[in-house]
Amino acid sequence: MTLQLITKVYGLLEPGPVVLVTTAHEGRANIMTMSWHTMMEFEPPIVGCVISNRDYTFGILKQTKECVSNIPTAELAATVVDCGNTSGRDFDKFEVFQLTPAAASLVKTPLIDECYANLECKVVDARMVAKYNFFILEVQKAWFAPSTKRPRTIHHQGKGMFMVAGRTIKLPTKVK
Ligand SMILES: Cc1cc2nc3c(=O)[nH]c(=O)nc-3n(C[C@H](O)[C@H](O)[C@H](O)COP(=O)(O)O)c2cc1C
Repeated sequence: MTLQLITKVYGLLEPGPVVLVTTAHEGRANIMTMSWHTMMEFEPPIVGCVISNRDYTFGILKQTKECVSNIPTAELAATVVDCGNTSGRDFDKFEVFQLTPAAASLVKTPLIDECYANLECKVVDARMVAKYNFFILEVQKAWFAPSTKRPRTIHHQGKGMFMVAGRTIKLPTKVK
């Protein structure tokens, strides 16, 4: 067993598709890349996520208590990395990275039109924000592009490595 394993745990347990989190405040929308999220409940869907207190998104989410989790596919991979290597403090990422904002229905935050799914979320529990930067979100509304049958989502393994979702298999199971 390698002694270096501890540094690879994140890549081994990558939690799910990389998402683009949009937030908005005083008419200014922003986008950040996020891969540290986890499902916590089926219905209503509850999602926990870690957003660093160094990110511009952190303060806005703490204040507005709403965001959209936009799920991109592999076609947007380079833009996903760009949104995760720059800060909305410095410029408008929608404009610079040529993404299209679309109106959400239950939150004031825009959706990203180019993403195949968009989850409108509200912060329902912020008790672990101070200690872990961990926000608990409830998905209030979910949008999907019906034309995307098998979304090739991207999964971050660390150090610039991404796995692209591929083959799907179906097995009999009692679990939802
Ligand atoms: C693939 C990838 C995944 C990332 N995942 C997270 C994450 O889960 N949580 C986080 O706080 N930052 C994450 N980041 C870093 C933020 O996206 C980055 O700090 C970004 O500049 C924040 O933007 P903002 O200052 O506009 O909010 C990730 C970056 C990349 C490239």
